[in-house]
Amino acid sequence: MKINVLKNYKELSSTVADIVETQIKKHPLSKLCLPTGSTPLGMYDELVNKKLDWKSVITFNLDVYLMNITRPQSYQSYMKKNLFDRTNIYPDHSHFPFRPFSAFEDKIDGTNQTDFMNTTMGIDLCILGIGSNGHIAFNEPGSSFKSRTRLVNLDEQTIIDNARFFDSVDDVPTQAITMGLGTIMDSKKIVLMVNGLKKKSILNQAILGIITEDIPASILQKHKNVEVYYCD
Ligand code: GLP
Repeated sequence: MKINVLKNYKELSSTVADIVETQIKKHPLSKLCLPTGSTPLGMYDELVNKKLDWKSVITFNLDVYLMNITRPQSYQSYMKKNLFDRTNIYPDHSHFPFRPFSAFEDKIDGTNQTDFMNTTMGIDLCILGIGSNGHIAFNEPGSSFKSRTRLVNLDEQTIIDNARFFDSVDDVPTQAITMGLGTIMDSKKIVLMVNGLKKKSILNQAILGIITEDIPASILQKHKNVEVYYCD
């Protein structure tokens, strides 16, 4: 696992944006897995400023809240506002976890597809953040390392952490659909973005500590192609 400590948030954002740019330029038909939250916002701004050609890129979001998707707090609204409406990506090429979950997984794999665009099998590049309890996507502590896309109940800590995006803590959805840890681990390359001292301790546990389902991000130690980017 390559661990990179960057000077500040600006450098974190531009470094990861450069990785996405390289991927898209090298392979315009790339399948990307994309995160939400506050950490990737700067990276999306950097990406938009690069004016890349997104017309052949296919994206999959890691997770969605179970909520009305037209509300501004939905991850669908977040992606439209921060990336999709600011690039030339085709609406049909951006996917959020959907039911039946096996069909979503098939779309990622590229199996059972007649779509000629679907030329690569699986996700080429997956960008992740980490929750304060060590979750990745919405795989909360205790999630099986073999888990696939599914409906989950959110941890109390996650609901508290994410309340800042809602009117109140009671307004935060309690359920979500998330890619599983097994789904994420099938990605060819994974980049973990971590911003801020408050995440340093959980990051250290995840990447240097024991590999345990109690810290979902610790599964990344088993992946052959993971890069971690951190700034204080
Ligand atoms: C949410 C998302 C995660 C994200 C996490 C951290 O819970 N489901 O994918 O990694 O938030 O977000 P932030 O970057 O805002 O700390």
